[in-house]
Amino acid sequence: MPSTRILLDTDPGIDDALAILLAVASPEIQLDSVISVHGNCAVEQATLNALAILELAGANNIPVAKGFNLPLVQPSLLALETHGDAGLGYAKLSAPRNPPSARHGCDFLVERIMSNPGEMTLVAIGPLTNVAVAIRKEPRIVGALKEIIIMGGAVRHQGNSTPLAEFNVHVDPHAAHMVFHSGIPLTLVPLDVTYQCILTPADVKRLNKINSPITKFIDDSTRFYMEFHDEYQQIDGCAINDPLALALAFAPELCTYEEHFVDVDISGGVSMGNTFADFYKHTKKPANMKVALGVRARDFMELFLERMEGLARRLSET
Ligand code: BDR
Ligand code: CA
Repeated sequence: MPSTRILLDTDPGIDDALAILLAVASPEIQLDSVISVHGNCAVEQATLNALAILELAGANNIPVAKGFNLPLVQPSLLALETHGDAGLGYAKLSAPRNPPSARHGCDFLVERIMSNPGEMTLVAIGPLTNVAVAIRKEPRIVGALKEIIIMGGAVRHQGNSTPLAEFNVHVDPHAAHMVFHSGIPLTLVPLDVTYQCILTPADVKRLNKINSPITKFIDDSTRFYMEFHDEYQQIDGCAINDPLALALAFAPELCTYEEHFVDVDISGGVSMGNTFADFYKHTKKPANMKVALGVRARDFMELFLERMEGLARRLSET
């Protein structure tokens, strides 16, 4: 029986889709459920994508619940130029057969946490709207969650949504602010580490040696993502941010961490959504999270590729 039970809050999204595949392919964890949120695309699309990817991976037993479609305060901000109009680049998946849960994602999240106190690790790889509202609806989740691993922020790294802000935090900075100050044990996985984890065209070529719907999906989705990275960031390949955050739930040794007080700028100026760590202890505030600041990127990429090969082979055999 795997020891770590995972709730995945996600806005699929190309790298979110890869994180879902990694979760299904990793025997160390048990993916309990998936909760969708706006972000890379609208929540309706993100929900369909989550269901379709789980079906692609042969994991249609994992429930998906649809969360919020708007940030708490800010207007909607989607990333269709990064992930494509339907969120998955050039990939075209069959419409899912399973419907989402009848419950709202936020209520679903609260229910899963409160019925398994101390057991659930929440991996949040989209804007934090669902999580922030869940904390307001049921403050006892603060003590009931084991941990939240958040893909978000840019601590020493530049932003990818603005020069100063990372996308997930920038889309809903007020939600991030609430979660950062919630008292829940947090691990932040910022661009500082995820932008060292680059899936290259050579990696995709390696995966394509296996003829499978999984490798075809990875090829079709990441080709679009790579074009974006090439055009806007001069990166040959694409950063797979979200799978790294997921991997830390079962292989925390892939990163090195520092404990810091980290805050979010919600003052509304040019640095809106900026995440800043108090490295020199100016504020005298106690640390509120562990921040991943170093990564064994090659080891992670090898783990990711091996898991994708394993999943592709497993599904071709069935
Ligand atoms: C984050 O933003 C999204 O576009 C990705 O899915 C990832 O979660 C990286 O900044
Ligand atoms: Ca994401």
